[in-house]
Amino acid sequence: MLYINLLGNLDINNELLEKVVAVEILNLLRPMVAVSVWVANIGIGMHQFPEAAKQLQNGGNQYIEMFLQETRRYYPFFPFAVARVQKDFEYEGFKLKKDTLTLLDLYGTNRHPKDWSQPETFLPERFINWKQTPFNFIPQGGGNYDFGHRCAGEFVTMSMMKATIHYLIKYISYDVPEQNFDFNFNFNFNDIPAVPSDGFTINNIHYL
Ligand code: HEM
Repeated sequence: MLYINLLGNLDINNELLEKVVAVEILNLLRPMVAVSVWVANIGIGMHQFPEAAKQLQNGGNQYIEMFLQETRRYYPFFPFAVARVQKDFEYEGFKLKKDTLTLLDLYGTNRHPKDWSQPETFLPERFINWKQTPFNFIPQGGGNYDFGHRCAGEFVTMSMMKATIHYLIKYISYDVPEQNFDFNFNFNFNDIPAVPSDGFTINNIHYL
């Protein structure tokens, strides 16, 4: 059990540390909860694309990596990132005024036909010899880690997803009961984030 004594802890100005502790706990919890959504999406992907799932068993680490990248590309999660324009500027003919609320379409960018062939198809193999730029694949924000808005935890996210998939394919077997996997039912695109509405249900779990 997590036990934190907030009352006795003061900072150098004799102020209680509650706010700092609350922020740090949230910093810990938020990414874990976030990655759990992709854990559900891994299960859905393995179920909806059994041919690809079969290859996970014998395709080695490279195929696992490609399957996970395709999961992050194919399924929506953070549909967009929000920002406010800091000063007037023009971009490719669009005039953006200071203080305008803008949305960066993360999901749409990951399916943009200019960068992705057959974007509506789940195809892990597309990541063989794939050329990444800071802006063509942005499920966790774009740009680079140092100066852009790319998620600092992207490597950690991938590690957590790899650990999950190893567990699913090596340590357990399970059944997938009847449930609705229709894309438009399962993902509500008005939600932020667009999490699978019923999660992913498995039963008859056996430890191998
Ligand atoms: C499903 C998993 C995750 C998603 C979808 C996600 C998404 C994002 C996005 C979109 C941003 C950029 C926000 C912006 O500047 O506009 C971001 C930033 C950030 N993420 Fe994540 N994240 C995830 C997991 C994680 C994990 C596991 C960690 C830590 C271990 C993490 C740590 C951070 C940090 C520290 C930033 C701020 C980076 C900065 O401003 O320099 N994230 N994330």
